[in-house]
Formats: sequence, structure tokens, C-alpha cells
Amino acid sequence: MTRVSFAAGPAGDWMIETIDAVCGQTLAGAPRLARLEGEAFQAPVGSAWVIDGVRSNDRYVERAEKERLVARQAELGRSDSTCGALIPIRKSEAWWRLAQDERRAIFEDRSRHIAIGLEYLPAVARRLYHCRDLGSEWDFLTWFEYAEADRAAFDALVARLRETEEWRYVEREVDIRVISARARTD
Ligand code: HEM
Repeated sequence: MTRVSFAAGPAGDWMIETIDAVCGQTLAGAPRLARLEGEAFQAPVGSAWVIDGVRSNDRYVERAEKERLVARQAELGRSDSTCGALIPIRKSEAWWRLAQDERRAIFEDRSRHIAIGLEYLPAVARRLYHCRDLGSEWDFLTWFEYAEADRAAFDALVARLRETEEWRYVEREVDIRVISARARTD
């Protein structure tokens, strides 16, 4: 199980541009964000905040969808992916009380999360981490990377998802936009 820590503080590969509370309480500001995947599961000294997660198995993706995703998706770390977004999300107790088939029906049959998302691949590279079973105040950490030219497309994607039935179950969401510190210093 691969662990991740997102740490906001004085150090990290990404410069924090904006932190917007979409729903619920915001997070404190800091100059930099670090994504420490597979590294020591502990807070770097001087962090304003640290959120931990794990990479996990898919819950909702069906075979045909998985094949479409694999065919189109791009890896993280592309040299032209100078923009990033960390969006931690917590869903409501009402969501977690649903049965798996009810959640899948909301997630894809009615909200078209995967169908919408696929329209933005490969421009947007993504990684989903889970936190709920770690006892975190968050359920998910979602991480995205894209080129400067795709900023508007990413904004359109998040706006479309936030209009869906699935998002009625989101009770806390903070949208953190970052730009690569390496791109600026090269
Ligand atoms: C870039 C296009 C996107 C694609 C292709 C995509 C695809 C997916 C897929 C396939 C899953 C299900 C994984 C599973 O089976 O467990 C998922 C889950 C999720 N995605 Fe996206 N997504 C995209 C964008 C986004 C964005 C922009 C956000 C946040 C604003 C987001 C938030 C989430 C969350 C929170 C989950 C977990 C849902 C749950 O388990 O209840 N996704 N996404």
C-alpha cells in the first residue's frame, strides 16, 4: 500500500497560488506544497498542515471504463505539466450510509463522473488517494497535473462535476492550485 503525504509549508516542488474553500472550512495558507508519495509517513518540520492518504483499489470503475481510461490517461510528472491542483474532499454520512450499488448509480449512471472526466484526458493527469480508513477528517485526496494552456479546461471540468448529483454529498472541499517551482527556476 503506497502512502502519500501532502504537506503545505516552506518547502516543496509546487508553489501555492490559491486556496479556495468550495464547501466547508478552508485550510491555512503556505508558500509551498510537497507531494511525498511513498516517503516517510510523517510531517516535515515547519508544515502549516499535512494530509495523509493511500493509493487504493478502484471502487466503481467497470471493465469497459477501465479500458477507456487506460487507453487515454497520462502519467504524472510530464515536463509541460506546470500546473497542479490538490482537492481534498469529504463526503457526508448520507453518502456513506448508501449501499455500493446506490453509490455507483449516483457516481456514474446519473452524474457521469467517468464519462465527463474522460473528455479531459490526456490533458489532465490524475491520481486519487483514499484517507477515510486512516481516520482522517478527509475521505479523498485528488491530485491533478496539466499544462498552462489547459487551465481553462480544468476549471470547466471541476465546474461540471460540482453541478452533479454526486457533489450534493460533498460536505467539505478545498481547491488548492499550484504551479511548478522547478518550471520557474530552470
Ligand atoms: C481528469 C478527469 C477525471 C477522471 C478521468 C476521473 C475519474 C475517476 C474515476 C474513474 C474514479 C473512480 C475510481 C474508483 O473506481 O474507485 C474517480 C473517483 C473520484 N474522483 Fe474523479 N476523475 C476526474 C476528475 C476529478 C476531479 C476534477 C475531481 C475533484 C474535483 C474528482 C474527484 C473524485 C473523487 C472525490 C473520487 C472518489 C469518489 C468516491 O469514491 O466516492 N475527479 N474519478
